[in-house]
Amino acid sequence: MLRILFLISLFWIGCKSEPVVKEIISEEGKTVMAQNAGLASAHPVATKIGVDVLKIGGNAIDAAIATQFALAVCYPVAGNIGGGGFMVIRMNDGEVATLDYREKAPGSAHRDMYLDAEGNVIDRLSIDGHLAAGVPGTVDGMVKAFEKYSKLKDWKALIQPSIDAARNGFNISEKQANGFNRTMEKWLDLNTRTNAFTMKSEWKAGDLLKQPELANTLEAIRDQGEDGFYRGWVADSLVAEMNRSNGIISKEDLSSYESVWREPIEGTYRGHSIISMPPPSSGGIALVQLLNILENYDLPSMGFHSPEAIHLVVEAERRIYADRSTHLGDSDYYNVPREALLQKEYAKKRMKNFNSQKATLSSDIKEGNVSKESEQTTHYSVIDEQGNAASITTTLNTGYGSKVVVGGAGFFLNNEMDDFSSKPGFPNVYGLIGNEGNSIKAGKRMLSSMTPAIVTEGGKVKIIVGTPGGSTIITSVLQTIMNIVDFDMTATEATAACRFHHQWTPDMVFEESECLGEELSKILTEMGHKVQSRGKIGRVETILVNADGSKEIAADPRGDDWSEGY
Ligand code: DON
Repeated sequence: MLRILFLISLFWIGCKSEPVVKEIISEEGKTVMAQNAGLASAHPVATKIGVDVLKIGGNAIDAAIATQFALAVCYPVAGNIGGGGFMVIRMNDGEVATLDYREKAPGSAHRDMYLDAEGNVIDRLSIDGHLAAGVPGTVDGMVKAFEKYSKLKDWKALIQPSIDAARNGFNISEKQANGFNRTMEKWLDLNTRTNAFTMKSEWKAGDLLKQPELANTLEAIRDQGEDGFYRGWVADSLVAEMNRSNGIISKEDLSSYESVWREPIEGTYRGHSIISMPPPSSGGIALVQLLNILENYDLPSMGFHSPEAIHLVVEAERRIYADRSTHLGDSDYYNVPREALLQKEYAKKRMKNFNSQKATLSSDIKEGNVSKESEQTTHYSVIDEQGNAASITTTLNTGYGSKVVVGGAGFFLNNEMDDFSSKPGFPNVYGLIGNEGNSIKAGKRMLSSMTPAIVTEGGKVKIIVGTPGGSTIITSVLQTIMNIVDFDMTATEATAACRFHHQWTPDMVFEESECLGEELSKILTEMGHKVQSRGKIGRVETILVNADGSKEIAADPRGDDWSEGY
């Protein structure tokens, strides 16, 4: 394993301005060059647990399962067993698969459940507390992935390291301590029972977090598989927790939950093939739509972060997010015009009114006409010695989900119900609006933006990528792929590079921490864009397989993210 200190000189801004050099020094654990296999995730403990599974002969899917459980222990802000996610798989023989273990609306959920008598959305009802939770899908997802793809065939070995980490504890980082302290008031407000997180009134870096109740739950899953979670005492505890407040998840909801293998979204971009997640995520369709548009322009000669390139990408994003709000939803319940949206011709039509000099107003953009047919999510990327790859994004939705810990069972419940459209046109926590396609129905899955992706070239895996970030997920994955394919960056550079984002509404280009710089923002403003700086965008984990077979495993420098390989 080769640790490398990277000193990268990056990027010039546009043709009109002087080169601006940014120095990014990668710290320990951020980039690894591996000959055989490796993994990047949001937490060092989870990465180590996943890589250990690779070293004892597990394949990428075994490592992914172990990492999912480990993140539930050591990255509780988003890692979970009380949430859901998506797994994109590409086996070395070319087989591709996508697993949907997204949460579902409980059986007694209904369209207007977050509205008051006047039809107004009740503030934060779909975000904080018991009623915000969808039926968790993670444990069923891990069981299905194990049954179909495990090489190790030792379920217990995949969970035991997480049980040990929960029981013996691990030292929390400064970022985690700050997150815990910021959330304490909500935890105390929404939970009637003391739990591992409220044992202390104030946390500091280095404190030992022990989670004995979570360890017991993981033991039930270790010993009884999905029955250990969806039936028996853990399910009873979850339903009892619902009854302590206004929750509606029932025993029947739990025992009937099923994750689903779905047909992957596949596309092409400048000689590469893209594999990503179909509905109920919007991620795969939107990513391929964006790449279909960008393929028609010579981005490399425009230059990285040139005003022309940013303008083009923003205008593409504006149009595709408008499509998302109308055309996408859970395809089990809504007729998503998947094939029409993915056509290369449709991408050309969508840009008919593109003006290369001037921003189009979002109010002048509607969804296209097609014929019908915080860092609070987390992503990890893994490749094994045989070249099998898995790209997984998993979440509780916002940080610590609903903030409700299941009493006696020690895990957080998601608040994924907020990803539904509570009312047509009413923005969710990420400012995304939706319509009928994403309305609430019992048993339906809420629309996601999660975009775990795998890119191949010449029949071989080249990039494994994904990120958290709510609505910005799609555009962060897009930019990472563009940075590598169009701007010839390494995985480390592509992952560290400044990001921007537009999502149709609000009509705003969001830049990360003023990283585009004053001059570029001024040019974009003159073109008619509104530019607003916001906090960090995304925590991308990228694996880039080089032509010589070596793997550059890059963890995002923005967080505690960690990469390992060998
Ligand atoms: O599925 C989705 O699109 C959201 N629930 C993801 C949430 C997320 O990425 C929060 N993290 N920053």
